[in-house]
Amino acid sequence: MKKLRIGIFGFCRGAYYVDHLLTNNTSVVAVCDKRKDRLEQARKKLGDTTQYYEDFESFINHPLDAVVIANYFHEHTEYAIRCLEKNIHVLCECISNATMAEGVRLVEAAEKSKAIYMLAENYPYMLFNQEMKRIYEGGSLGKCFYAEGEYNHNGDPYCSTPDAWNNIKVLFDGEKHWRCHLPRTYYVTHSLAPIMYATGATPIRVTAMPVYFPLPKDCSRASYVGEKAAIITTLNNDNSVFKFTGCSTFGASDNSYRLCCEKGQIENIRGTGGKIMLRYDPWQIPDGREENNFYMPKWNDPDAKLIKNTGHGGGDFCVVREFISCVRENRKPDFDVYFATKMSSVAILGHRSLLEFGMPYDLPNFKNKEDRDKYRNDTLSPFYYSDGREPTIAPCSDPDYKPSDRQIENFNKVLKG
Ligand SMILES: NC(=O)c1ccc[n+]([C@@H]2O[C@H](COP(=O)([O-])OP(=O)(O)OC[C@H]3O[C@@H](n4cnc5c(N)ncnc54)[C@H](O)[C@@H]3O)[C@@H](O)[C@H]2O)c1
Repeated sequence: MKKLRIGIFGFCRGAYYVDHLLTNNTSVVAVCDKRKDRLEQARKKLGDTTQYYEDFESFINHPLDAVVIANYFHEHTEYAIRCLEKNIHVLCECISNATMAEGVRLVEAAEKSKAIYMLAENYPYMLFNQEMKRIYEGGSLGKCFYAEGEYNHNGDPYCSTPDAWNNIKVLFDGEKHWRCHLPRTYYVTHSLAPIMYATGATPIRVTAMPVYFPLPKDCSRASYVGEKAAIITTLNNDNSVFKFTGCSTFGASDNSYRLCCEKGQIENIRGTGGKIMLRYDPWQIPDGREENNFYMPKWNDPDAKLIKNTGHGGGDFCVVREFISCVRENRKPDFDVYFATKMSSVAILGHRSLLEFGMPYDLPNFKNKEDRDKYRNDTLSPFYYSDGREPTIAPCSDPDYKPSDRQIENFNKVLKG
């Protein structure tokens, strides 16, 4: 079988794709990053047969079958569109679009293109999330009425713990970096995608509340966001309701999901490394189960050995494998452009709701032209634009909130130290 020729755009998160791409019988033929140190890292890993580029235009002219887009969080869309226009398949990091207008343009580009667009959302492929989907689809729980998703990733605000999540030099490149301006609803895919994927429900209306507790004034983070979390709710197209956090920073990090259904509930238990709790009404217990079941799910997958040791609970490997097989089989991915832009709409309009302390917003259906036209010129963004323009909407529920001088000084000291 001919090896697909893959390019990686952005070699920070992008570096984590290399091994999975190689084990899935592809060649990484080109890497692009504007930072020379990251290109040097790539060269060390991939050698001299791969080509290295500092600018996207030269990179995209290299002969490529597919591109992994892993540049800045809020700048994926333009590059994804450029690939789709050239019929190059796209595996795009989260999120798909940071403005509503970009969402419209992305959908239209994907509809016109012969290439496949897939969002690289990895959390639904974690073992416990796959188990919840498997049990739900098995039917023993009946219809899901309500589901919860929590992506909770706390960081030491003083950066005194030497792990990756506290490594400011890896995570940021200055005060204008997207992570300093990231509203809590925007990093939504890891909490929302697993429950959308498991239940098949699609959000149609969103509200969000801020959990406003700013960081200590003397810490080493320069965040323009004072919230610890956004509590987001959606009404869905099947009358079910979701409640999820966006990205939260409560003490004791873990990710957790829960489906509440007609005959029982299933969830992963926080702090257990992925144990499942599956409970039924005493009068609706299926054969072979107890009323309360606690167990560690097992991979039932031909690639189990490979998957077990990969990042994000196996999710990173599964995303790449799914993308490559969609390309090879010319099959539509589950996390297609509509799934992806729906989640971005939740992120963007959820933030507007949060700024108005819970005002509900209807979510557009980008399959309809009327809905697209409504948002075609909506370019509001809480991030610095790629051409250097200032953000056009506040990132935080307190419009006057900004990091203290001390925080900025400490942040820059760690960044440059
Ligand atoms: N799914 C996951 O589990 C997961 C985990 C981490 C990051 N991510 C996502 O990966 C993306 C990147 O995040 P990150 O952690 O790598 O940090 P980052 O955004 O700081 O890194 C982006 C990289 O892209 C390069 N880059 C940016 N614009 C460029 C341009 N125009 N031309 C060339 N190079 C450019 C930067 O130099 C940098 O090396 C984000 O969307 C983030 O959400 C996803």
